[in-house]
Amino acid sequence: MRHWPLLRLQLTTPRLTLRLPTLDDLDELADRALAGVHGPDEMPFAVPWTDAPAEELPRNTIQYHLSVLATWRPDNWQCNFIVVCDGQVVGSQGIGATDLGIAREVHTGSWLGRAYHGKGIGTEMRAAVLHFAFEGLGAESAVSAAFLDNPASRTVSKKLGYRPDGFGVRARRGLRTLDERLRLNRADFVSPVPVEIHGLDACRDQFGV
Ligand SMILES: CC(C)(COP(=O)(O)OP(=O)(O)OC[C@H]1O[C@@H](n2cnc3c(N)ncnc32)[C@H](O)[C@@H]1OP(=O)(O)O)[C@@H](O)C(=O)NCCC(=O)NCCS
Repeated sequence: MRHWPLLRLQLTTPRLTLRLPTLDDLDELADRALAGVHGPDEMPFAVPWTDAPAEELPRNTIQYHLSVLATWRPDNWQCNFIVVCDGQVVGSQGIGATDLGIAREVHTGSWLGRAYHGKGIGTEMRAAVLHFAFEGLGAESAVSAAFLDNPASRTVSKKLGYRPDGFGVRARRGLRTLDERLRLNRADFVSPVPVEIHGLDACRDQFGV
């Protein structure tokens, strides 16, 4: 890919590579979605995309990733990295922003195939995009949100230095449900792993900074 250097951007940590996906990567990511992201009684996502029937979920997953790339704008972007561990696509770590050059705040969201939970991968991939945001893009803060019954996501946030930032209310599977908002200031972040950013200079303008 010569004309869109964004597609060559990579973040690396000791175990992981985060990059924008090829079509084959998306095919593999769809396998992870199909194999399950959470228990059937749980819904960690504000947009309940994992409730789609099995015959639709893989294509929906692929189309979503293509759509956020297709609608990328420097003043409003969503960078959904795929996460590769030991040569396998294991999940997705997203980071996005609106008017980053002025607001200097990013938001994140993520998921891993269920087989890969609880091994520290979620912490490592979030640390990678936070380092990218603060050191690479000059962000001053990062926000996240998680339903109160999502201890894994909330623990990852708290381990990385986020502080509580109030609550939101959402309709989830027909019920009024609270989510906790979390905010991390640049000064409070110390990455637990070394992170390298490759290929940012060629595409920095794509992030509105
Ligand atoms: C959220 C997610 C990405 C985290 O990834 P992960 O690799 O499982 O996270 P890690 O292993 O790095 O850390 C999880 C932490 O939560 C803790 N945790 C997990 N389940 C827990 C529970 N039921 N009660 C208390 N703590 C719990 C773990 O002990 C670990 O903390 P520790 O390192 O101090 O022991 C992953 O669990 C996931 O994909 N979940 C489903 C999708 C999702 O919830 N996405 C986020 C939406 S806001």
